[in-house]
Amino acid sequence: MNSFDFKIPTDIRFGKGKIACLAAELSKYGKRVLLTYGGGSIKKNGIYAEVLNQLTDFQVFELGGITPNPKLSIVEKGTDICKKNNIDVILAVGGGSTIDASKHIAAAACYDGNPWDLVLDRSLVKSALPIAVVLTICATGSEMNCGAVITNDATCEKLEINTPFLYPRLSICDPTYLFTLPNKQTAAGAVDIMSHVLEQYFQPNDEAYITDVLSEAVMKTVIRYGKKAIDEPENYEARSNLMWASTIGLNHLLTVGKGGAWSVHPIEHVISGFYDVTHGVGLAILTPAWMEYVLNDFTKHQFARFARVIFNVNKLDDMIAAKEGIECLKEYFKSIGMPSTLSEIGIDSSKFQAMASEAVRTSNISKNAYVKLVEEDVIAILNKCG
Ligand code: NZQ
Ligand code: ZN
Repeated sequence: MNSFDFKIPTDIRFGKGKIACLAAELSKYGKRVLLTYGGGSIKKNGIYAEVLNQLTDFQVFELGGITPNPKLSIVEKGTDICKKNNIDVILAVGGGSTIDASKHIAAAACYDGNPWDLVLDRSLVKSALPIAVVLTICATGSEMNCGAVITNDATCEKLEINTPFLYPRLSICDPTYLFTLPNKQTAAGAVDIMSHVLEQYFQPNDEAYITDVLSEAVMKTVIRYGKKAIDEPENYEARSNLMWASTIGLNHLLTVGKGGAWSVHPIEHVISGFYDVTHGVGLAILTPAWMEYVLNDFTKHQFARFARVIFNVNKLDDMIAAKEGIECLKEYFKSIGMPSTLSEIGIDSSKFQAMASEAVRTSNISKNAYVKLVEEDVIAILNKCG
């Protein structure tokens, strides 16, 4: 098991009605709040009203309209608001996109220069405004991690900043806030959780037994409750289990003792950077294709364990079990309504070469991934996604 440091400074308040703590908690950071949100779902489902109800003693500035796959231009707008109005704290109400844009704004507000500089060189981040979150979709784990993924509108580069300054100080996770999620977003969220766990689980180091078993618990939770949350959107048991699975799925707990570069996310970030597709949809298409491509005498043992533990595959031969596990994963994604090919979402092969070169240039997949991937490998995986 690798050595590790583990510190998460985020205060999680989980459960129905936890919004009641917002005013008291937020006032620890000041009274001038930038409230950030997406395209308006929070106004339709009443979360916006509940949040404003908590903010009567605060001076509230607003930045709405943060899109999925959030763009640098909205970060620049938010940074301006913070600088001109001496904002004390940013309150992100939404999912990964709103939280990530808010994290980037929080860092850029404390930096004299172009916010994109911070994405290209995270060492330039020397401080950030405090961030609080009211989570409305469970997928990314951004509510308890220090990553933010931003797309540069001009170049289509979709890159991550990752620095401890970006941990939210507070995250309110109320499973009832997930009741209004469209099925596609619930499903894409389930895939994203699954993919985060798989990226951490499939690594050469298999001595971190405890971490692997925790990962399996999170994956079983996704399988058990993903479909249920779609069939019964107001099922609290399903929503709450998935919500906590997403937080644990990417708060570093499932990396400890393991480590190594991720494989599928760097490729998906290029797809959603080029084509603005839903992150979880891209992952649903890519993940089984990547597994098929990298299945070999080295990976077959972990893939077989995955198949046996997660999908109860009972084949004794590792290669056969591994293949059956990949089929089960495909079937699972299909069962929750995810597409299985790029052509289904309108993507043809015309940019595969450019996408592959971008994926290799902007990540470590060719250096220390589970199975190292060069441009030709990425093109082959994209071709498998048809
Ligand atoms: O914009 P609104 O109107 O709010 O609608 C959103 C959006 O259309 C809707 N939604 C959210 N909560 C809802 C709701 N609709 C009805 N009821 C609710 N309660 O859902 C749509 C998707 O929201 P978004 O925030 O984009 O989803 P998600 O949380 O999946 O975030 C995706 C972004 O996070 C990045 C992805 O690449 C993508 O840009 N990631 C961030 C990571 C991180 N920070 O650690 C890691 C991930 O791997 C990922 O890359
Ligand atoms: Zn993800």
